[in-house]
Amino acid sequence: MSTFNASKGLNEKGAFFESRMAAWIGDPPKNAPNGMWESMVYSLQVGGKRLRPVLCISSAELFGLHPDEVMPMAMALEMVHTASLIHDDLPAMDDDNLRRGKPTNHVVYGEAMAILAGDALLCHAFEYPMTHLQLPYDRVVKAMARFAKSLGPSGMCGGQVLDMEGVESPEAISRLKTGELIRASIVTGAILAGATDEEQRSLDLYGEALGIAFQIADDILDVIGTEEELGKSIGKDQDQGKNTFVSVYGLDGARKLLGDFTDLAVSHLSSFGNKASFLVSLARYLEQRTK
Ligand code: IPE
Ligand code: IPE
Ligand code: MG
Ligand code: MG
Ligand code: MG
Repeated sequence: MSTFNASKGLNEKGAFFESRMAAWIGDPPKNAPNGMWESMVYSLQVGGKRLRPVLCISSAELFGLHPDEVMPMAMALEMVHTASLIHDDLPAMDDDNLRRGKPTNHVVYGEAMAILAGDALLCHAFEYPMTHLQLPYDRVVKAMARFAKSLGPSGMCGGQVLDMEGVESPEAISRLKTGELIRASIVTGAILAGATDEEQRSLDLYGEALGIAFQIADDILDVIGTEEELGKSIGKDQDQGKNTFVSVYGLDGARKLLGDFTDLAVSHLSSFGNKASFLVSLARYLEQRTK
């Protein structure tokens, strides 16, 4: 499959996911304050690439599940990713005012609501799959434990602290802040679909390398990307003196590492043969992404 078809596949799968998300948005949890739901939905609704849900769905499809069978997990992944973006943009963190092509959550709803909307998205991301997945209970528990781990002290939150401190290497920072959730996206799909331990391991290794590659591209785009395409402000990393792949290795060095981590990711899919052609080309497409 070509990178053009991978981009088309990402868009199509993302659009399918969004159609399911629209139904969910139209049916708010009982007693949720309107203002809070509005703030949660505002950041979820438009502009995201939906990479994490697409990874989960595609991984489950490798083992014969229909996307709808893992949809509550896919929704949860996008909810926590969106929560992480809302919090990442807060004045106490990256202090950004543009996200997914719109003013950031705290700019529209205020800091207190942005903090609470992020917290509510995080919590709902556990309630929703645990009450809506209709798959064997042992798989659900294992997937949810893996999901939780990817977000906590040894996952995304820990990684955001490393990013803030800026002492560790960009590899160590990105492995946690971005990599763990991307890994969990692909692995939870495999766990829920009943993949063997060996199959889960191969996908985990793919996700691990893909997650780091994804952040390398993000760091590169912060330097050479455009605000129009990215839907977020550029040049922020340098302004804030962030320890990124570009600040440490330079643009060429970062590009070389992006190629190496993409190759590594793809190498872990060989045992799946043609069945994994979408995931292979997706990694290649993400290597060249401009948004
Ligand atoms: C941005 O993630 C933040 C990182 C973890 C690098 P995405 O580039 O996936 O953002 P959306 O979901 O498309 O908005
Ligand atoms: C964010 O990394 C990682 C998260 C866990 C949200 P960045 O701070 O580089 O993401 P952008 O560039 O603001 O999207
Ligand atoms: Mg950040
Ligand atoms: Mg940021
Ligand atoms: Mg960035």
